[in-house]
Amino acid sequence: MRHVSPGASHSAKGVDPVAAAGDPFVAAVQQLSTLRDFIRLAVTRFEKAGVFFGHGNASAWDEAVYLCQRTLGLPLDLLEPFLDARLLDDERQALADILRRRIDERIPAAYLTGEAWLGDLRFRIDQRVIVPRSYIAEVLREDLEPLGIDDGRVRRVLDLCTGSACLAIVAALRFPEADVDAVELSPDALAVARMNVDDYGLADRLALFEGDLYQPLGERRYDLILTNPPYVDGPAMAALPAEYLHEPVGALAGGEDGLDLVRTILAEAPAHLEPGGRLVMEVGNSRDALEAAFPRLPFTWIETTAPVSSVCVLAREDLAPPAGPAGRKRQGGR
Ligand SMILES: C[S@@+](CC[C@H](N)C(=O)[O-])C[C@H]1O[C@@H](n2cnc3c(N)ncnc32)[C@H](O)[C@@H]1O
Repeated sequence: MRHVSPGASHSAKGVDPVAAAGDPFVAAVQQLSTLRDFIRLAVTRFEKAGVFFGHGNASAWDEAVYLCQRTLGLPLDLLEPFLDARLLDDERQALADILRRRIDERIPAAYLTGEAWLGDLRFRIDQRVIVPRSYIAEVLREDLEPLGIDDGRVRRVLDLCTGSACLAIVAALRFPEADVDAVELSPDALAVARMNVDDYGLADRLALFEGDLYQPLGERRYDLILTNPPYVDGPAMAALPAEYLHEPVGALAGGEDGLDLVRTILAEAPAHLEPGGRLVMEVGNSRDALEAAFPRLPFTWIETTAPVSSVCVLAREDLAPPAGPAGRKRQGGR
C-alpha cells in the first residue's frame, strides 16, 4: 500500500518511496508540512548526528529554531504563530538543504546564515572571521565600576585582535563619547570588520588598523584595552570538533600553551594604557596556564554566563608597578 504522509496537502504530489527511504531530507520535503515538523526533524537529526553547539546556540532546539526561522525569513523573536503554518515546496526544500549542510558539512549555523548575534546586536560574518561569541560582550553590558572602569572617563578604547569588529562595536556603543581603535592581522578579516563598522555608522570614531598587535599604533595610549586573542592551546587545537575547522586557524591557535600572543599583549600593555587604565582579556581554557605563567599578576576574573570565568581584568599599575623596591617585588612574570 502506498504511504500517504500526514501532511494531506502533499498526498496528491505523490511520494517517491525509493528516494525518501534512505534520506530523511528527501523524505522531509515530500512528507513534512509545517515549520513545527521541520524543527522537530532538525532536533532529532542534530542529536542523532552528534552536531556540536559552540557558536552561539546552546542546544539542538535553539539551533533548529534559529536556522528554520532565518531560512524562512521570519522574525527571531516570534515563533508560536508560525509553528503550524504550512510551507511552500521551495520553503521545504530550502529548510531541508540548510539542515543537511549543518549536519553533513558541520558548518556552524552562523556561517550558513551569514550573521551572528551578541545580545541584540547583529554582525555580518563569513568564514574570513571567527563566529563572534566572546564573553567580553557580556562584560560590556554590566556595571563596570567594580572593575575600576568609570564610564565617564573612558575616552579611548582599543580592541586588539578585532576579527569582525564585534567587540569594538559593542564598546563604541557602550562608550558613546569614546574613540575606538581596532587592530587585526588578517586583511580578509578586516574586510568583514569594515562592513560591520559601516553597518553601525561608526566609521567616524572607530578606526581599523591592519597589523600585528600594538605594532600599527605607535605610541597611542588608551583608557581601556579589550582583547579576545587566539588562545587555544596545542592539545585543544588537535581535538577541536569539526565545526571549528571552518573558522580561520589564525583566530584560534595560540601556540602550545595557548599564550603566544597573550605574553606580548601583557608585556606591551603598560606602554599603551593611561594611568589607571584597564586591560580586559579573554583566555578561554588557557586560564590555568596563564595563572601558572604569571603567578604574581593579580588577575581579577569576571563572572559571566560561562561555567568558569575566562575573562580577566588587570590595571596598568598591576602590569607595571610604580618604581621602587615594593613595586619591583610585585612585578608579574615568569
Ligand atoms: C579569537 S579571534 C577574536 C575576534 C573578535 N574579537 C571576536 O571576539 O569575535 C582573534 C582574532 O585575532 C586575529 N589575530 C591573530 N593574530 C593577530 C596578531 N598578531 N595581531 C592582530 N590580530 C591577530 C585573528 O585573525 C582573529 O581575527
